[in-house]
Amino acid sequence: MTKRIAVVPGDGIGPEVIREGMKVLDYLNESAKLGLEFTHFGWNADTYLATGISMPPGAMEDIRDNFDAVFLGAYGDPRVPDMKHAADILLGMRFQLDLYVNYRPVKLLDERLSPLKGKGMKEIDFVIFRENTEGAYVGMGGIFKKGTADEIAVQEDVNSRRGVERIIRYAFEYAKANGRKSVCMADKNNVMRFGGDLWIRTFEEVAKEYPAIEHFHMFVDALTMQMVRMPEMFDVIVTNNMFGDIVTDLGAALQGGLGMAASGNIHPGRVSLFEPIHGSAPKYAGKDHANPIGAILTAAMMLEFLGFKPESDRIEKAVTQAIAASETTSDLGGKLGTAAAGEAILRHLKGV
Ligand code: IPM
Ligand code: MN
Repeated sequence: MTKRIAVVPGDGIGPEVIREGMKVLDYLNESAKLGLEFTHFGWNADTYLATGISMPPGAMEDIRDNFDAVFLGAYGDPRVPDMKHAADILLGMRFQLDLYVNYRPVKLLDERLSPLKGKGMKEIDFVIFRENTEGAYVGMGGIFKKGTADEIAVQEDVNSRRGVERIIRYAFEYAKANGRKSVCMADKNNVMRFGGDLWIRTFEEVAKEYPAIEHFHMFVDALTMQMVRMPEMFDVIVTNNMFGDIVTDLGAALQGGLGMAASGNIHPGRVSLFEPIHGSAPKYAGKDHANPIGAILTAAMMLEFLGFKPESDRIEKAVTQAIAASETTSDLGGKLGTAAAGEAILRHLKGV
């Protein structure tokens, strides 16, 4: 059965890292006959500045109805200071396609990449589920008396029972299916009393359905401290959209930096979006400098989602071998450019 994948490289270093991800995907598609069909979409800051359009009319519906996955690079360009096109495309897909699970694994692939003294691959291995369709990202609020000394800005944090319950349930289901021992829910319910009340009640109720899985709550400020002090205490973390955004950058750093981290924006059973966590890094664009591993591990995550677990595992193994051989970009201490680092991984992939 054919799987249709929309490839959306985006801005900055997006096209370079997606190119390396595509090498790996093209190779596996041909050699293992995966039946993947790729369609490229050039929506980015250039097209937005030229046409004033982020995504052409009907494009979102096309993605929703005719594709199985989206493989996305990065968005952000200094010429679009309000990030309008990024919001329309990236946040647009998260919201309009209802991609409520933001799946961000934190897994150290090589002892040498650990930024923490005495913590290695055994300790740094957990996953974060970030709610992806509500919270502070809904863009509700307003400004009153703008530009005056009495100006007031209100930014709402929206939490629905349905939205909170489905991400918490997904975290427990993941723990159950993947042999994880515990689920930690992090929020700030000592201050955000209303949203926090809904989150903790829902968490306790859902936890009752999974008696074999431990569950505990942590304030998100304490969570950041413990992720650094004692990462081994975590298996699965679930949190809201904004806190999830923040703690997953910290999670990426625990894996060796932003260049390493992959993410999935998922709605089970529907088209889902896969992107490296890093941004568009405009100052490195076109310089063959960016680490392609985030994009390549994102390709692996997408393959697993599409039902190709063995191929996904092979990619991770090839990446691990390339790191072990120091065939990496400079952020990991290697001497290679983006393309050569991608080629090195492809070479290892052919042998695993
Ligand atoms: C992320 C990014 C986005 C977010 C930005 C680019 C809107 O930081 O995917 O983590 O805040 O969600
Ligand atoms: Mn972020």
